[in-house]
Amino acid sequence: MKKNFPNIRLRRLRNNSPIRNLIRENILSPHDLIQPIFIIEGNNKTEKIKSMPDIYRMSIDIAIKEIKILKKLGIQGIALFPCIEKKYKDIQGTESFNQNGLMQRAIRGIKKSIKDIAIISDVALDPYTVHGQDGILGANKEILNDETIEVLVKQSLSHAECGVDIIAPSDMMDGRIKAIRKSLEKNKFIDTKILSYAAKYSSNFYGPFRDAVGSVKNLGALNKDTYQMDYANKKDSMREVEMDISEGADIIMIKPGMPYLDIVSKIDDLFNVPIFIYQVSGEYAMIKAASKNNWLNEKKVVLESLMCMKRAGANAIITYYAKDALKWMK
Ligand code: PBG
Repeated sequence: MKKNFPNIRLRRLRNNSPIRNLIRENILSPHDLIQPIFIIEGNNKTEKIKSMPDIYRMSIDIAIKEIKILKKLGIQGIALFPCIEKKYKDIQGTESFNQNGLMQRAIRGIKKSIKDIAIISDVALDPYTVHGQDGILGANKEILNDETIEVLVKQSLSHAECGVDIIAPSDMMDGRIKAIRKSLEKNKFIDTKILSYAAKYSSNFYGPFRDAVGSVKNLGALNKDTYQMDYANKKDSMREVEMDISEGADIIMIKPGMPYLDIVSKIDDLFNVPIFIYQVSGEYAMIKAASKNNWLNEKKVVLESLMCMKRAGANAIITYYAKDALKWMK
């Protein structure tokens, strides 16, 4: 490079805004964003979440109002997470497939009142189990893979019956995509999409979310290391993605986002499948806390972080900042 200077001056293409705009490689658009929504029982109810300032748990009626606002701002998708009351939790997570459960009512309610929005439903047992794990426990508190899949299949089918667009298993059991796809096909839900959390790491960045859905106390000092991936690994992700695509996943999720963009980039290189990234609760909390202290420019940092995810290979991003970003992009 040195010997080509000054024939090559890389700064030539950076010296004014029209030139920078013309050569820009990636764009971030309102079509790229998905807002997570935490649902609670009740009417006209909102609750603050301590570790996630400006994010609220909402009863279904309030959520519907909020989603209408999001739609006006241009959102394409929402991801629903239920916060289940203690009295409905058990060791098997049976409430997860109650056809009249909170999630099921939320999906039906939103579908009925809002057209043209992709509803994504989380499929996992942690909001429903007294122990806060994503699976059924064995005699030694180990997570039983195949037994858990049976419940996940029932949960998925119950969401499909409510008209959900995309089922998103976030549990990390082996073989669940195959089993869920098989039962969807069998029951003629041929268009229900599966967004597999294929590359989900056992991450410390999920802390505020566990606070939001109320699983943090139940989980206690335990972790999810026997099913979510070791954050030291990269090849493991490729095997997970390969497996989930072969079992019938339509879209692949990588999670968390920002510290894991090397994983996204490699998956983007190796596989021909749409990629979603989840900018998780801990990432939100970090940016929010620093911004509240005026240590970071919130708007600029958020838009940068989202653009970097696009650059890494994301087709869409689930982010607690979706609503703000939509406003900022206007
Ligand atoms: C639960 C689930 C988690 C998240 C999404 N679905 C937490 C976990 O695995 O413990 C995390 C999302 C976030 O941190 O924003 N299956």
